[in-house]
Amino acid sequence: MQAQNVVVSFKNIQKTYGGVKAVAAISLDIRKGELVCLLGPSGCGKTTTLRMLAGFIDPTGGDISIEGQDVTKLPAYRRDIGIVFQNYALFPHMTVAKNVEYGLVNIGMRKAERRERIQDILRRVELQHLSDRYPRALSGGQQQRVALARALALQPKVLLLDEPFSNLDAQLRVRLREDLHGLIKSLNMTTLFVTHDQEEALTLADRIVVMNQGLVEQIGSPEEVYDAPASRFVAQFIGTCALLEGNIDGSGLFTSNGGLRLPTKANPGPATVVVRPEFVRRADELATLQAHHARVEASDYHGHVSRLQLSIGYDQLLMDARFPVGMKPQRGDTIKIAIDPGGVRVVPNQV
Ligand SMILES: Nc1ncnc2c1ncn2[C@@H]1O[C@H](COP(=O)(O)OP(=O)(O)O)[C@@H](O)[C@H]1O
Ligand SMILES: [Mg+2]
Repeated sequence: MQAQNVVVSFKNIQKTYGGVKAVAAISLDIRKGELVCLLGPSGCGKTTTLRMLAGFIDPTGGDISIEGQDVTKLPAYRRDIGIVFQNYALFPHMTVAKNVEYGLVNIGMRKAERRERIQDILRRVELQHLSDRYPRALSGGQQQRVALARALALQPKVLLLDEPFSNLDAQLRVRLREDLHGLIKSLNMTTLFVTHDQEEALTLADRIVVMNQGLVEQIGSPEEVYDAPASRFVAQFIGTCALLEGNIDGSGLFTSNGGLRLPTKANPGPATVVVRPEFVRRADELATLQAHHARVEASDYHGHVSRLQLSIGYDQLLMDARFPVGMKPQRGDTIKIAIDPGGVRVVPNQV
């Protein structure tokens, strides 16, 4: 990574409240134009991290720099940051255009330039026809776009978004997510996006920072954190999986405590193996592989697939599969399955 491409740099950033570590230690570089998601369960320290970058919270330790300048002690208004809050925080007594203009007046921009800037940004978020409306006369999705326009109008060095879609219904969320992604990429905007929603992170992010209890569990592309989880926590938080405990022998063969054998390329020793449901297949689809008899413990229909809970001896697996009409296995049935070794991942065996 070239140093001049780094816009945001967290170096061992920490925040404690009393004895409680809200953020235990975060080190992270965000490159120019990169969209990074902080992903983790409620209370893991995402908002605290974002607010330390914004300048609303003083870190207990560590440094933050923006474009090479140490901003750790700089007040929020001098950091050149745009922020979209979860509740949007629009001024209710101002029109859409006035909401966007507010920050531009504050930095002393002249009227003609302000008008041009407002028009440009409202066009980009497709709100130009609503510039004279008041926030109360806008839908949730439109309010969110006003908040976004207000943040982007200042042409910040970094855009921060804290769960910006959490107040919207599921369908609107998906559409706004795509719009937001397009807009951020067309502006080449460096962005830090906070969410507890794994699907949001997987679809939006260039890189995901998976957090748990104030610590970083893994930093990687969506494919890396899904296909090669660094820990049990990451494997379980992102996507669905079965975890099998057991041992790997000198040839890489994993044997679970329940007796199931799976080839791996990992080193010998105690290990936990992650098996995603899409890699458990009908034996007739993977005829070359060893077949196992599995008992169906539960079967849920999801339309595109059925999700089966299976037991093979003492081991439990999940399976996503399609079955011919009328052939869907029921609880108590025995079916023949094979496990695609390409989907078997070994994670460190934590205690
Ligand atoms: N002002 C505060 N005083 C005490 N504890 C706080 C404060 N703000 C956050 N915390 C605690 O720090 C942890 C991380 O909070 P937060 O960053 O808001 O999590 P997230 O955004 O991931 O849900 C939580 O345990 C929370 O209760
Ligand atoms: Mg939060």
